[in-house]
Amino acid sequence: MNEAPLFSLRNPWFRASVGATVAVFVVAALIGFVWLPSAQHDAQFQGIWNAICSAAGAPRQWLGPQSPVEPAYRVSTVELTPHMFDDATSLSVGRGATLALRCTMCHGPRGMSDANSPNLAGQYATVVYKELQDFQSGARQSAVMSPMARNLSDQDMRDLAAYYASLPPAASARGEMPGIVAHGAPLRNIPACAACHGDVDHKTGSPWLDGLPTAYTKAQLTAFANGTRHNDISEQMRNVARNMTPDEIDAAAAWYAGQPRP
Ligand code: HEC
Ligand code: HEC
Repeated sequence: MNEAPLFSLRNPWFRASVGATVAVFVVAALIGFVWLPSAQHDAQFQGIWNAICSAAGAPRQWLGPQSPVEPAYRVSTVELTPHMFDDATSLSVGRGATLALRCTMCHGPRGMSDANSPNLAGQYATVVYKELQDFQSGARQSAVMSPMARNLSDQDMRDLAAYYASLPPAASARGEMPGIVAHGAPLRNIPACAACHGDVDHKTGSPWLDGLPTAYTKAQLTAFANGTRHNDISEQMRNVARNMTPDEIDAAAAWYAGQPRP
């Protein structure tokens, strides 16, 4: 019978089991800390030490000095608060009315457009202000509106916003609300349009859509969907429009324009 003590390196069973445990540990550490982290395609680690730090979750500059990712286009920098125009004075409205004489050609003498330009009468002041700021900064581009906004001061935009908000809006759309407007499409991550755009609830910065010309609403939804309009903060509208079907775009645009559904 073997007389060697149990926990001694002279015991071959002990040597073999300790050796096997150490080997499993080393192989697992190499796989977990070196091989798997280095095999990730989204982060090219510079060196084994960086891969080990990453696997251990230790905060290090794994990829060397980095600059923040800049968007390829100009984004809106306007900050809106729900009550920013609550105390608009009649002086402001009056100044706005004078400035608006330049806008009547397209947006109508009292903010109701006969051409396919958007109506501005009754539009939320926050929206008119934000869109003018975006046309001026280039966050929203339009061959027609960008030059119109170029020379407006911040105060001009506030006055125009106060003026248009003081005019009576287009009548609410009639007829049964299409499903997309009333409920959205939850399976495709589309919330109800009416939850932001004012027929049920209103979120600051969402325009009043009732009475907008069909062609305009369709063009804007298409532009959000393909990204040519990208001034919506946090991609709120791009995420909605991208997931809409052409039929839903038609139904929403027709309903908001107050026409019977096609
Ligand atoms: C020559 C025609 C024209 C004139 C003049 C004009 N606009 Fe516009 N406006 C447009 C068109 C067209 C659009 C839609 C642009 C687009 O398709 O993105 C628009 C869009 C807007 C919008 C965005 C509305 C929305 O619902 O998103 C605002 C706000 C606006 N105009 C304000 C003004 C103001 C204020 C003036 C006068 C200083 C003015 N516009 C003068 C044609 C015009
Ligand atoms: C989460 C809130 C939200 C929901 C839901 C939403 N929108 Fe919007 N929508 C916005 C905001 C915010 C803007 C203004 C973007 C900007 O800053 O120019 C906008 C802009 C628009 C415009 C451009 C209007 C103009 O005057 O230029 C149209 C058209 C529009 N939305 C249609 C829809 C339709 C149709 C739906 C439902 C399928 C919908 N939206 C759902 C928030 C929303």
